[in-house]
Amino acid sequence: MKFILATLPVLVAAHSAVWKVTFDGTTYPARDARMDPELGAKRAEWHFKNVQNFPWMAVRDVEDASITCGLDATPPDLSAKARAGANVTVQWSGIIRMHLGPVLTYLGRLPTPDTKPLDISFFKINEAGFDKARRKWANEDLIEHGTADTFQLPSDIKPGTYVLRTELLALHGNRMNYLPQDGYSGPQFYTHCFNVEILGNGNVEPAGVKFPGGYKRDEPGVKFNLYKSEKDWDGYIIPGPPKYAGKYEAPTGEPPKVEPKDTGLFPPAFQAKYEAYKAKEDEYAIASSNMVNGVDPTGKEMAKGSASIATYFQGRTKVQAALKEEYKNLLAEAKALGIAPK
Ligand SMILES: *[C@@H]1O[C@H](CO)[C@@H](O)[C@H](O)[C@H]1NC(C)=O
Repeated sequence: MKFILATLPVLVAAHSAVWKVTFDGTTYPARDARMDPELGAKRAEWHFKNVQNFPWMAVRDVEDASITCGLDATPPDLSAKARAGANVTVQWSGIIRMHLGPVLTYLGRLPTPDTKPLDISFFKINEAGFDKARRKWANEDLIEHGTADTFQLPSDIKPGTYVLRTELLALHGNRMNYLPQDGYSGPQFYTHCFNVEILGNGNVEPAGVKFPGGYKRDEPGVKFNLYKSEKDWDGYIIPGPPKYAGKYEAPTGEPPKVEPKDTGLFPPAFQAKYEAYKAKEDEYAIASSNMVNGVDPTGKEMAKGSASIATYFQGRTKVQAALKEEYKNLLAEAKALGIAPK
């Protein structure tokens, strides 16, 4: 494992992204940092810059301003819609099993569209840490559930526009020091923010925390050491405030009707090409994560060691070259159609 992560930095770009979120039955594509900005895609996910040129690179310090919604986050183009009390499903990309840790989601009211992420007050609406009975961490549960995380919005909160901030906290780097020279140790926060307009007639404005501020560097759930004894896992305390303890009742009435273009979908013909291209890119991402998790691209459990991983990556070089060409054509078409800025 150490060898793989040290020598194949491309893997960093392959995991812990969010691909799409379903709010109250309507699915919104997440922002694909590899191409969406250039293609002119409109997204409900907040924009952020790539850290060290890697899309979705983890934030490793709770005091880093990027922990809120990513590096230099700016508001999204779109806002999802959901009734208070509705279900939300966050579809993550490939999740790496060794990235043991909790998965948490917050909501924060957005008083004005230009409110800075640092000024948003977030309350927790969902959390999972270590499941004692099943001896599984939340990231392992994600893998078991097709990397999808489903939870409910509170039903009693005041309607309005909120930022949904979802987060995977990987603890494997804590005191592991497998690469002391590059400073890669410490917790890894993968956060993603989406705008959602919550409909209803609730009136509660739950108290919240700000990020940075919601976590402390030395709190147990952040500095947790996985490697002393697996018995310690039973006592894991999820960081941040307790989950909002208000009402979580099923929504009433009809779910909001949303036009495909208001979810971020391109016109159908171009959307189909985009998806075909993205599937090829993602196949690589998924295969990478799976192989790190010990499953080869055909779904078979792999023997220990990385020989087949190395072979796979060599084989991908040609595929990557072809994909680059395909992407050029896609971008040219997006420009010709007036979707992407010229
Ligand atoms: C929300 O999800 C739960 C569990 O996945 C399901 O039982 C419930 O019917 C869903 N509610 C709605 C309104 O779809």
